[in-house]
Amino acid sequence: MFDSKTYTNRRNILKNKFEDGLILIMGNTDVPMNYPSNTYRFRQDSNFLYYFGLDMPNLAGIIDVEEGRDYIYGNDVDMDDIIWMGPQPLMKELGVKSGIKYTAPFNNLAEVLTTAIKEKRRIHFLPPYRAEIKILLEDLLGIKVSQLKNYASEELIKAVVEQRSIKEKQEIAEIEKYSEIAYTMFTEAMKMAKPGEIEFNIAGTMEGIALQNDCYISFPVILSKHGETLHNHSHENTLQKGDLLLIDAGVDSPMHYATDHTRTIPVGGKFSAQQREIYQIVLNSQMAAIEAIKPEVTYQNIHLLACREMVNGLKKIGLMQGDTNEAVIQGAHTLFFPHGLGHMMGLDVHDMEDLGENYVGYDEETKRINQFGTGYLRLGRKLQEGFVLTVEPGIYFIPALMEQWRKDKKFAQFINYEKLKEFKSFGGIRIEDDVLVTKDGHRVLGKPIPKTIDDIETYMILE
Ligand code: GLY
Ligand code: MN
Ligand code: MN
Repeated sequence: MFDSKTYTNRRNILKNKFEDGLILIMGNTDVPMNYPSNTYRFRQDSNFLYYFGLDMPNLAGIIDVEEGRDYIYGNDVDMDDIIWMGPQPLMKELGVKSGIKYTAPFNNLAEVLTTAIKEKRRIHFLPPYRAEIKILLEDLLGIKVSQLKNYASEELIKAVVEQRSIKEKQEIAEIEKYSEIAYTMFTEAMKMAKPGEIEFNIAGTMEGIALQNDCYISFPVILSKHGETLHNHSHENTLQKGDLLLIDAGVDSPMHYATDHTRTIPVGGKFSAQQREIYQIVLNSQMAAIEAIKPEVTYQNIHLLACREMVNGLKKIGLMQGDTNEAVIQGAHTLFFPHGLGHMMGLDVHDMEDLGENYVGYDEETKRINQFGTGYLRLGRKLQEGFVLTVEPGIYFIPALMEQWRKDKKFAQFINYEKLKEFKSFGGIRIEDDVLVTKDGHRVLGKPIPKTIDDIETYMILE
C-alpha cells in the first residue's frame, strides 16, 4: 500500500467534487471456483484499491460528503478465521493504513444505507461488474440486479475517471518497477522460442516468472503461433521453424498496477523475408504513433495516423493501393488491422473499463467512430499529461475475413486480393508498449524489451 495520506488525499479530492450524498465504494469478495471454499485468486476492486488501498475481501467504503467523514465496513477476524488464515490485522489497524478513523462491522452498512434511503439522501455507487457484488447491492439498496447499472451514479463515474486517468508519480514508479518483471518474462520467452517447443511451456514459464516475483498476470497470457486470432488463449501448438510467435502479456504488480506488452518473434531467431517486410510496417506504425503522443492531441487522430503509416507500408509491398487517406477514412485497412491502437492502463490493464469504455475513452468532443475495426478503439479522447496508455498496432492475416472480403470484392480499389493469396498462412504481428504522456511529449515505460528486427534476431541468436 502507499502511505495513508495518499488515500486520504484521493478521497478528499473526490469528496470536493460533490455537494452532498454518500459515495459507496464496494470491495470485492472471494469468488468460488468449483465449490464454496475453493476460490479463485482474490483480486480487489480497483476503485476500492484506489481510494482505500486495502487488499482483502469483504470490505466496503463510504465517503459521507456532508459529514466529511470516511468509513470502512468490515469484520474483525474471529478464532475460526485465525485457525485457518493465521492472525489478521484488526479493522481499526486497517483503518489507520487507509487514513480512516471510523471502522464498523460489515452488517452496519445495511443500516447506514437504509437510513440514507429513508432520508432520501443520494447514494452514489459505481456500476458493479461481479455477480456477487450485484446481489449484495440489490440487498443493500433495494434495486434489482438488472437495474443496478441504470442507477449507478454518472457523476461518480465521471469524477473517478477524471481522477484515476492522471497517474501520480508513485503509480508510474510502480508500473515502471514491475515492467522489469515483464522484461524478464518476454526475454525468457525469446530464449525458449525454438522449434519443438510447446506454447504452454513458454506461457507457463512467463506466468511462473510473474508469480516468482510476488506478482500475478494482468490478464490471461496470449501466446500463439496463430497470432492472427487477436486474443488467442489456447497454448497447445508445437512451434516449428518458420513460425511467428505472438506474445501479449502483462504483470499485475503487488499493488495491482498492470503492464501490457506484445512482441512477435520468429521461432528459432530469424525472420523470413516476408515476415521482415510485415514486421517493419507494424514497427513503423507503432513508432510513428509513439512519436506523435503529447498532451492535447486526440488518441483517435494518433490511431488514424498509425493506420495511414500502415497503409503506406502495405502499398509499398503491393498489398494495398490507391489514396492512403481515403483508404483509412473508408476503413479498407481494417482487413489487416481490425482493432484499436490502444487503451488506458493503470490499476486495470484496460483501465477503468468497469466504469464504461466510453466514459474512459471518449467525451463530448471526441466521439467513437462506429466503423468495423476502428470502432474497437477504446481510447479516442484528447491526451493529458499523466495518462498511461498502450500503443499496440498489428497486422493480421485472418483467413476467414480475407475470404469473406475477397468474395464480396470489398474495397477492391484499395486491396490487392491477388497478392493477398501469398499471405494465407502468415499469421499475425502485433507490437505493444506502455507509454506515459509527459508535459512535452511522452516516455515509453520500462526497460526496453528487444523490438527492432535486428535487436530481436541478435538477442535470440546470442541467447
Ligand atoms: N489485454 C490485451 C491487450 O489489450 O493488449
Ligand atoms: Mn496486450
Ligand atoms: Mn493492450
